Amino acid sequence: MKLAIIGAGNVGGTLGTAWAQKAGHEIFFGVRNPASDKTQALVAKFAGKARAGTVAQAAAFGEIIVLTTPWPAAQAAIRAMGDVNGRVILDATNPLAMGADGLGLEIGHSISAGEKVQGWATGASVFKTLNTTGFANMANPIFHGVKSVMFVAGDDAANKPKVIALVAALGFEVVDAGPLRNARLLEAHAMLWIELALKQGLGRDWAFALVRR
Ligand SMILES: NC(=O)c1ccc[n+]([C@@H]2O[C@H](COP(=O)([O-])OP(=O)(O)OC[C@H]3O[C@@H](n4cnc5c(N)ncnc54)[C@H](OP(=O)(O)O)[C@@H]3O)[C@@H](O)[C@H]2O)c1
Repeated sequence: MKLAIIGAGNVGGTLGTAWAQKAGHEIFFGVRNPASDKTQALVAKFAGKARAGTVAQAAAFGEIIVLTTPWPAAQAAIRAMGDVNGRVILDATNPLAMGADGLGLEIGHSISAGEKVQGWATGASVFKTLNTTGFANMANPIFHGVKSVMFVAGDDAANKPKVIALVAALGFEVVDAGPLRNARLLEAHAMLWIELALKQGLGRDWAFALVRR
């Protein structure tokens, strides 16, 4: 599959690498400065299976577009995609901001980043996913044989199976978390991972999993 990854940092670079290696997907990174040393060094690792260009070029290439920019850049990145009517966008952002208690969610009770992205991406189908664990776990989501969990929230029932399969190809157990408004829950869930990892001493080398009876 042809994938556009907007942003080529921790999350974008990790996802692109994992999808190319594990599923053979073709990767087009959309960034502000495709010629930068950082981006060129990343693309060079793919031995011809990835390229980098503008956000608009990447968005035009990808059958699915994956948004991996910092939250403050999300609206500009979506604007730079151009016409996204009818397109599928995976939103991995978390609306993080510094507050009185340190790092926290800028929004969340009455609106989520996922729903904001949907509002900016006119006519697209937005899915919230790949935001609830650290980027290194996206490269290796399996812990001692147990798949860690990744949620997908979105309103487009027709495209949801394709999105779930794409995320599952990374090695996650994927759970359909319902409509896009549940991005409010997934972004809070991400904040719990961040809180435990960065403030409560768990570090980054763990993930949430689902157990069943
Ligand atoms: N880090 C994690 O473990 C993690 C886990 C889950 C979700 N997330 C979320 O994923 C997002 C990315 O996190 P990250 O850690 O990967 O950040 P990062 O390493 O800083 O990477 C962000 C990327 O976005 C690019 N970018 C910035 N503004 C852009 C714009 N207007 N248009 C296109 N590209 C732009 C940056 O390129 P430049 O070189 O041009 O700045 C960079 O390649 C955040 O929203 C974060 O909350 C992070």
